[in-house]
Amino acid sequence: MENLSPQLLVRFISVGATLFHVVTCNERRVERLITLAAARIKGMGSPLVWTCTTGLSRDGEVLPDTSDPLKALDFFMSHPGPLMAIFKDIPYLWRDNPVLIRKVKDMACASRGRGKVAVILGEEDRIPAVLKEEITTLTQDLPTVEEIRAFLGQVREQDPTLAAACECEPGLFERLVVAGRGLDLVDLERALRMLRLSDAHATDAVRELLENKRRIIQQSGIMELVLDYAGCDQLGGMENLKHWLKRRENAFGVDAITSGIGLPKGVLIMGIAGCGKSLFVKAIAAEWRLPLIRLDMSTVYGGVFGTPEVSLNTAFRTAEAVAPCVLWIDEIEAGITTHGFKSEGGSASRVLGSFLTWMQEKRAPVFVAATANAIEMLPAEVLRKGRFDEIFYVGLPEAAAREEIFRIHLEKRGLDLSGFDIPLLAGSTKGFSGAEIEQAVHSAAFEALADRRVLTQQDLMIMVSRTVPLSITMAEQIKRIETWAFKRAVPASGKFT
Ligand SMILES: Nc1ncnc2c1ncn2[C@@H]1O[C@H](COP(=O)(O)OP(=O)(O)OP(=O)(O)O)[C@@H](O)[C@H]1O
Ligand SMILES: [Mg+2]
Repeated sequence: MENLSPQLLVRFISVGATLFHVVTCNERRVERLITLAAARIKGMGSPLVWTCTTGLSRDGEVLPDTSDPLKALDFFMSHPGPLMAIFKDIPYLWRDNPVLIRKVKDMACASRGRGKVAVILGEEDRIPAVLKEEITTLTQDLPTVEEIRAFLGQVREQDPTLAAACECEPGLFERLVVAGRGLDLVDLERALRMLRLSDAHATDAVRELLENKRRIIQQSGIMELVLDYAGCDQLGGMENLKHWLKRRENAFGVDAITSGIGLPKGVLIMGIAGCGKSLFVKAIAAEWRLPLIRLDMSTVYGGVFGTPEVSLNTAFRTAEAVAPCVLWIDEIEAGITTHGFKSEGGSASRVLGSFLTWMQEKRAPVFVAATANAIEMLPAEVLRKGRFDEIFYVGLPEAAAREEIFRIHLEKRGLDLSGFDIPLLAGSTKGFSGAEIEQAVHSAAFEALADRRVLTQQDLMIMVSRTVPLSITMAEQIKRIETWAFKRAVPASGKFT
């Protein structure tokens, strides 16, 4: 099905099409596009609009006694000369109404060569079978990035507040365009109006647009919008990951999403629990300034939102609607049993199958960040080159990374770093994960607070000595993951070569 545009409509009309069905939830926008098309056709004039309550009207002027659809169609047909009309509500009325269906069919046949064009608007792609040969069905999707850019450009010209904001904050205009994708122009207009009324800063408009997207995500119910952003400065170590991120800083800029060329597809991040996989996903969204939505695979298999396939599909559609965004699929291996992925022959293999198909075919700028602990369970199809742009392995932090992690978590608590011997702390925490370091800082701070004093190096050292890291209790398992990853994944830390 093709997407309605004034050009396309004019082209169809010029080759003799007289009856159209436009599938849309967006009547205002369609009306505007059709009016634009009518203006391009000589002698056509602006279109009539019919609804079941008002009847026919044009530019707000109502033609009396036309709310009966049959009467309205008669009026339309008997009008001398070229005429275009938009019929809303008809798809609700033609169910079980053979007279109306016949009338529409007659109208289509009689319109030929008389410059008459009727456009029926409906929410669903369903029309009575007998009309199929007469009707041209089109859809109306959300505005493209070009349309949004043009619209915002227009607003900027007329609105000194926005113009001034864009002037003093480079990149703001492009950010507005990106944040506006997936929304209707009406929502954009509303967000900008709020900005004007509340005298707020222009970056609030970006936030307001994201707020609109949050509502869309919430309505789907299956995913959540993650709001606790953490940038690269919250992430200790992982130079490779940071380097990779920085190189793609503008990957989802306006130019890239307009052309759709060279958009990164996604990354798979595997590794040891508590070493910052989730944190890295948050850093991607923060650094690229994209909304982050999280899909829990256990929800997909949970059954609350229908079968796993249906849930996954809902999730994909929602992500596409709010794109550009980062879609975080947490624990992608959930649902796959240790007996393997094929043996069940059940939902897990089908779900992963539809996930892969979608990854391959998606055209919307959705960046997938999948995290996994037990990656050896994933079937080879998922790991094959070309599915994900990169597979990263997040291992236990090295000494330098541990220093950074201590600094980050001490600073988070507003402590003066000069009172601590950070290299000594890092040296004493070999084999600790980031989460264990954070926990040590947290517990030590708690102890100090209980004694009503400031946290000291001594407190930290005591906590560290009491901690038995997972790398000791689960040495075997970690060794296995490391061996597996060594051959297949790019380490997250270490210098990029
Ligand atoms: N490299 C790091 N830098 C700073 N903090 C870290 C780092 N790694 C872990 N942490 C801390 O540990 C906590 C847990 O990390 P995170 O949730 O990212 O781990 P994970 O790898 O996703 O673990 P899981 O497998 O359990 O989901 C974080 O909230 C963070 O505070
Ligand atoms: Mg995690």
